[in-house]
Formats: sequence, structure tokens, C-alpha cells
Amino acid sequence: MITSIRLVNFKNFADETLRVGPFTVIVGANASGKSNIRDAFRFLCGIGIGYTLAEIIGGVYGSGGQRDWEPIRGAANEIIRFGQEKFSIEMELDDGRAHYMIEIGHHERKPDEFQIKKEKLIVESETIYTAHCDGESLRVRGAWDKEQKEILLESNQAVLTQLTIPPIPIESKRQEAFFELLPKISQPSFTLLEMYFRELSPGRMRESSLPGAKMLGNFGENLPTALEEICTDPKRQEILTSWIHELTPMDVQGFEFPRDPSGRVHLMLCETNGSKVSADSASDGTLRFLAMLAALLGKYPEGLHFFEEIDTGIHPARQSLLLELIEKQAAKEKVQIITTTHAPDLLTFVNDSTFENMSVVCRLENSHDAIIRRVADLPNAKELRKSQGLGKLLAEGWIETALAFTEDYDEAEGDGE
Ligand SMILES: Nc1ncnc2c1ncn2[C@@H]1O[C@H](COP(=O)(O)OP(=O)(O)OP(=O)(O)O)[C@@H](O)[C@H]1O
Ligand SMILES: [Mg+2]
Repeated sequence: MITSIRLVNFKNFADETLRVGPFTVIVGANASGKSNIRDAFRFLCGIGIGYTLAEIIGGVYGSGGQRDWEPIRGAANEIIRFGQEKFSIEMELDDGRAHYMIEIGHHERKPDEFQIKKEKLIVESETIYTAHCDGESLRVRGAWDKEQKEILLESNQAVLTQLTIPPIPIESKRQEAFFELLPKISQPSFTLLEMYFRELSPGRMRESSLPGAKMLGNFGENLPTALEEICTDPKRQEILTSWIHELTPMDVQGFEFPRDPSGRVHLMLCETNGSKVSADSASDGTLRFLAMLAALLGKYPEGLHFFEEIDTGIHPARQSLLLELIEKQAAKEKVQIITTTHAPDLLTFVNDSTFENMSVVCRLENSHDAIIRRVADLPNAKELRKSQGLGKLLAEGWIETALAFTEDYDEAEGDGE
């Protein structure tokens, strides 16, 4: 599980760290940098997939011409903080069990391209490898080699995924040592791979899907077959219907999955009054709930789910239930959820553990850069949360005001030293 992420010269962050919990809520004004944090997680996910830097930043097209991977917003020119040459992303796993750092800059000879300048993986206090760029290639020293002989790897793809194919000759004794270390390399790599960036779109959720497509797509594709898969397991089906019963105003009692002549699977919602409604005419909010449930109750919910503005299209009266659902799912092992939100009501209902993992992103006056701070660390936040409610504090701009005050104060203190 990722427990923190540090961004140095990435987009509008000079050097900021976000603490990440089972459920992390990010608040902040428009254009403060919330989605830039999402971009950083997407960058890491691209590394986990094994894409090259050009692919992660510029996008990947499938053989049919469709996009398999969306470019990072701003692509090549705006990924590095304005005026800087390099950026780095550092993550901590399992409360310090592992640390991973990657630094990226423009290619020395081809300034339009990027290359890895440095990379490092530490697991259980052991440095598994370090890498630095020598102009063209990455020179890598690994713990598999006691003499720390360097091996050369490409500088356009993370060492983390290049190492999944042993870069050491078969006959070498070092290979045995390498295979012993491999689980320590592949575990962080899998963590990066298992990330889902949910941008639920009602249009995509209304589409029929093909039998066998059980994984929900990031836009909500395959909703019929993802739900059908949940319904094959009586335990998960019961949880699904009980949540749906509470969450939707029209009381869905169950689902049907009719096939059309071409074999595609459609979604029908069975209401309490006996009528059946096709996904085509179900409400946007209902479909959003269904897709969130399909994502979190699906066969393989493990991993990090990033929901941008989770409250979109959800009535305030239902937001507390939505929150309850997420907090319950995030309490499960290996499931992590991060969301951005502008909804005061959502904040009012967060439990104590979510409150501990709530951060605010803010651009202070006269500064391009953004800072990230835990809301619980703001002065009197805990007391004010109890007496006034976080929602009210967010709506009235107290969070940003308190932040501006403490940062000014800190700076003044620093000046005095
Ligand atoms: N390379 C960069 N260097 C400095 N600042 C940047 C860079 N790229 C983007 N920004 C800043 O980040 C801002 C966009 O941030 P972001 O999209 O994360 O906002 P947000 O908090 O998600 O806002 P909203 O709530 O409206 O979605 C831009 O307006 C710009 O000021
Ligand atoms: Mg945004």
C-alpha cells in the first residue's frame, strides 16, 4: 500500500508530500493542484505498466487507432514545474517498508525527449538498486552483485520494470542472488500497476458489454458484465443489492442481464414495483453508484482507485451513504481509495480515520506553487470539526484561511532564526 508520495518540481509542486491512507480525501480551490496529484499517480502507474517515458507522457495508441493510455495533461512542456529542468516523484510503501524514487529530465542530446536521471529502490532498509544517467544509458548498481558492478539499461524506461527480465547473464552466479531479490522488485512494481483512474461517464455505463469482460473500465465500460460477475457470488450479490437498495431512490431489487441477438450483454434494473428499467433510461446518479459498487465489489478490487470528484451527480442527502460505502471498502486489506472533492456535505460525514487522511492543496497568495497540508494539522481543526463541521469550514473558506495564516506564521518564524 502506498503510504506517501513526494513531488519535487512536478507541475505546481516545488517539494510537497501527500500522506496517503486507506481512504484519502483531497480538497482545495479550483486550479490549486488536486488533479496534478492525480497526474503524478498516473505517471507512477505508467511506470508500473512498463511504458517508456514518451508513452507515459505522450499517450499510447492501440493497433485499432484507439488510445490505450491517455497522455499526462500538459504532456511534454508542462509536466516539469515552470522554470525547472527536472522533476522527481518519490513514494513510500507500507509505512516505510519500501521507498522508490525516480527523477526525470530532458534528454541530454535530444531535448524534446525525456530520460531518467536517477532512480532508487530501498526495501527493508536494503538498497536494492541505484541508477544514474551517464548521458545515454542508465548505469545501475544492484544488491545482487556484491562487487556492485554496473549494468547498463535504457534511460527511457524505469529500471523497476526493465528488471523484470533478468539483465544478468544466465551463467553468472549473480543471477541466483538476483532471483532472490526479484520479489522485492516486483512487489512495488505491482503496486504501481494496480491503479485505476475512475472517470465514470454515464454514456459508457449505458453501453452493452461482451460476455467475459468482467473488469469495469475506468469510464464505467463493461458495467453489465462486471455486475453480472458479482451476482454469481451470493455473498457479494447480497452486499451489492443491499447497498443499491439504500443508495438509489428507486429501490432496485435486482438485476437482469439479457443478451441481444449479437450476444452482447445488457443491463436491466428490476424495481420494487415490478417494473424493469434498462440501463439506457436509468438515471445518471444510479449508474454512478452501480459503477462504484462494481469497482469496489468486483472480483479483484485490490489496488488504488482514484475517483476525481466522487460526489459528482450525487444528491447531498445520499453523500453520507456513499461515504459509508467507501470507508467500509477502504477498510479492507489491499484496497485504497483517493478522491478529490468540492462537496462540503461529504466532508461533514467523514469518520475519524478519513479525517486523519484528509489533505488540502492550496496556492498561497502571490505564489505559483501549491502546498499540501493535512487538514488535521491545522490549528484547532479537530475542535472546529466537532463544533462546526468540516463542511461548513470548507464552504466558508476557513481551511484556506487557516493555511495562509500558519504558512505566513511559519515563514515569519523561519525569518527570525
Ligand atoms: N508545469 C507547471 N508548473 C507550474 N504550475 C503548473 C504547471 N502545470 C500546471 N500548473 C498549474 O496547475 C493548475 C491546474 O491544477 P489542477 O488541474 O490540478 O487543479 P485542480 O485543483 O484539480 O482544480 P479543479 O478543482 O478546478 O479541477 C494550473 O492552473 C497551473 O496553475
Ligand atoms: Mg481537477
